[in-house]
Amino acid sequence: MSEFDCVVLAAGDSKRMKSRVPKVLHRVAGRPLMYYPVRAALELGAKTVVVVNNPQSRDAVQRELGVCFVESVLTAVQQSPLGTGDATRVGLEAVNASRVLVLYADTPLLKVEDLARLTSELDRGAKLAFMSCILGDPSGYGRVLRDERGWVRAVREDRDLENGAERAVSEVNAGCYAVDTQALRGALSEIKPHNAQGEYYLTDGVELIAAQHPDGARALLGDPAGLFGVNDRAELRQAERLLFERIALRHARRGVTVHIGARIDDTVQIDPDAEIESGVCLRGHTQVASSAWIDVGCVVTDSRIAEGAILLPYCVVSGSSIGPEARVGPFAHIRPESEIDREAHVGNFVETKKTRLRRGAKANHLAYLGDGDVGEGANIGAGTIFCNYDGFQKHSTVIGKGAFIGSDTQLVAPVAVGDGAYVATGTTVTHDVPKDALAIGRARQQNKAGYATKLRAKLEAGSKK
Ligand code: UD1
Ligand code: CA
Repeated sequence: MSEFDCVVLAAGDSKRMKSRVPKVLHRVAGRPLMYYPVRAALELGAKTVVVVNNPQSRDAVQRELGVCFVESVLTAVQQSPLGTGDATRVGLEAVNASRVLVLYADTPLLKVEDLARLTSELDRGAKLAFMSCILGDPSGYGRVLRDERGWVRAVREDRDLENGAERAVSEVNAGCYAVDTQALRGALSEIKPHNAQGEYYLTDGVELIAAQHPDGARALLGDPAGLFGVNDRAELRQAERLLFERIALRHARRGVTVHIGARIDDTVQIDPDAEIESGVCLRGHTQVASSAWIDVGCVVTDSRIAEGAILLPYCVVSGSSIGPEARVGPFAHIRPESEIDREAHVGNFVETKKTRLRRGAKANHLAYLGDGDVGEGANIGAGTIFCNYDGFQKHSTVIGKGAFIGSDTQLVAPVAVGDGAYVATGTTVTHDVPKDALAIGRARQQNKAGYATKLRAKLEAGSKK
């Protein structure tokens, strides 16, 4: 296959999205809309990819491209939204290859196989090849008009359809093209904005090329699910549903059990034999290792879940790592920079932030552990709080190996508890506790015999006044 470049059109005015954010930057399955066609072009081997954007979206588009791709992706600016033909003309200024793919940034489900079919059609003599599909409801799309031989004659935009027969055509233009660059440049220099929208339509180039080269413009039928275009938020929803399904199937084929209703972003990596339950959201640069099990309703962002780790239902884990065979939840909140090491346990209503629980350490119920380091095998009782913040600065709490922190303990940081030390229930720890010592700091209990009866009588009398 000869070399080709790619132009991705992303400069439209996004009116139908009703948003301040440019349409192509709206996210689907964790990536901006425009990411998907650019990636498809790069995967197919495009030498140069140019994303055409508008002056308002330019900086944001460039920033996103920098975040999304290690490859360099060029940008070009279409000064005003004069139509897809005009935008293509702008993009072509950066194109050198003799062939070019022209894609719309709002078609996130494009398949590399379909693009490959288009470029090989050029090998078979076409000057222009584009994807089409048959839709039950073709309204809104450009219709593919063919002559009596079945050759493509033109693509007519929905608003410019001339009669009922054209309107009834169910074959629509999907909006991705492989074209001979020279033929495209020629056609685009001739198109006129003589249509309902007063725009320069790329689709008019199809008619011009078809007129100049018999059977030179060809439409290849494809699966509508791969060619879906996003113009408004209802379509954004649908595209995301299709993408989540595609991503889940990709993992399933590699040996991951993904239950119905899990939402796995395109950015996530999962090893075979992991299991992802319903209602789980895996986002960002999350990695899940083999045999890990993520139970119902967990939301995991930018985190690493190691082999055999278990997240019980409804945990929120962000920017953290969960070690092999560790067990977290239900209802745990693991905030950024937490490290839950091998075989450690974090139970219900425990919040960690920038805290390490070393191997086998446990905090099973109701605790706040911020800016801490909990030694191997240490036990943190229910209701324990690492008082890490004095209103100005954060301070750290260090708990030694095998230490036992009784329930309802406050550790006022900075503070350290030595290896094997014991902190009695209800203690407020303000000084370091030496290795193997017992720290106890609480008021002594007094029992007053029979006093409860007297007290009750007094209170009852008071309530009747
Ligand atoms: C377009 C096609 C239509 C096809 C449909 C498939 C044209 C004229 N029509 O219609 O035949 O059935 O896609 O999804 O091409 N853009 C620019 N600059 C502009 C205008 C648009 O860069 O001046 C970009 C948009 O950002 C978008 C893409 O081009 O990514 C397509 O534009 P859009 O307005 O969505 O075209 P459709 O009406 O969907
Ligand atoms: Ca569109």
